[in-house]
Amino acid sequence: MQLIDGKITSALIKEEIAAEVAAIRLAGGKQPHLAAVLVGHDGGSETYVRNKVLACEACGFKSTLIRMEDDITEEELLDKIEELNRDEDIDGFIVQLPLPAHISEQKVIEAIDYRKDVDGFHPVNVGRMAIGLPCYISATPKGIWELLCRYGVETKGKKCVILGRSNIVGKPMAQLMMQKNYGDATVTVCHSHSRNLKKECCEADILIAAIGQPDFVTVDMVKDGAVVIDVGTTRVPDVNSKKGFRLKGDVKFDEVAPKCSLITPVPGGVGPMTICMLMKNTLAAGKKEIY
Ligand code: GUN
Repeated sequence: MQLIDGKITSALIKEEIAAEVAAIRLAGGKQPHLAAVLVGHDGGSETYVRNKVLACEACGFKSTLIRMEDDITEEELLDKIEELNRDEDIDGFIVQLPLPAHISEQKVIEAIDYRKDVDGFHPVNVGRMAIGLPCYISATPKGIWELLCRYGVETKGKKCVILGRSNIVGKPMAQLMMQKNYGDATVTVCHSHSRNLKKECCEADILIAAIGQPDFVTVDMVKDGAVVIDVGTTRVPDVNSKKGFRLKGDVKFDEVAPKCSLITPVPGGVGPMTICMLMKNTLAAGKKEIY
C-alpha cells in the first residue's frame, strides 16, 4: 500500500505554477490576477479565502479581496459581479459560498462570465466539460484527476465507482472519469438509493468516496489492490485538537488501507489539492486558455 500525498503534490504544483508565472513575466506577459468576493464574516469562509490569497502569493499571482457585508442586496452583489466581468485586469474571480439565504447562489454563479469562472461552477463550464470542450473544471474533481495522473494510476478501461452525486464532486468526477481524453474508464455513480452498494464497490478498481459520512467505506467494500480516493472532510469534535475538531474521511482508513494499492489520507490527501487547482485554473485564465 502506498499513500497518495496531497500535501507534497500540491506544494510541488504551486512551485511549478510559480516558475511558469516567472517565465511569463520575464517574457513581458501579464501577471495572472485572481479576485475573491467574500460576503459576511463566516469563520470557515474567512479561512478558505485567506488561504486562497496566500496561495496566490506563493504562485506569483496578483490577488484582490473584495469584502461585502452580509446585508447587501442580491442586486448589489450582481452589480459587483458585472464590474468584475468587465475589469480587464482581472483574469478570473470567485464568489465564496455559502452566501446569505436572501441571495440566490445559482443566480450569482450564472452572472459570472464563464471565461472568468475559475471555480468551474457556471453551467456553461459544466456543459463544456461534459462534451470535452476547453473549460474550467471545478477544483476537487480536477485535483483528484491530477493525483491519479501524478501517481501513475492507469484508468483506461478500468472500473471506477463514485459514491455521491453532488454537483461539485460526484457528477463532475463521473464526467472526467468517463471522458475519452481523461479517465476513459467505465463509471458507476452510487448514491443513497443505490441497491447492492457493497457489490458495486467491490468491483471497483478505483473507488472515489464523496458522501460526507465518516467511516462509511469499510474493508468488506473494497477489492484487493484497489485505488481508494477519500473526499470526505467531516468535522468531528476532538478535545485534543487546538481547533476543537478534526477532519474525518468517508473511508475507515485503518482497516481499508492495507487492502489498497494506493489510498489518500484525510487530512493531507484530496483537501490540499483543491486550492492548488484553483491556482491552476487562474493560470489558465491569465493565459486566456478558456474562450
Ligand atoms: N465554498 C466552499 N468551497 C468553495 C469553492 O470551491 N468555491 C467557492 N466559491 N466557495 C466555496
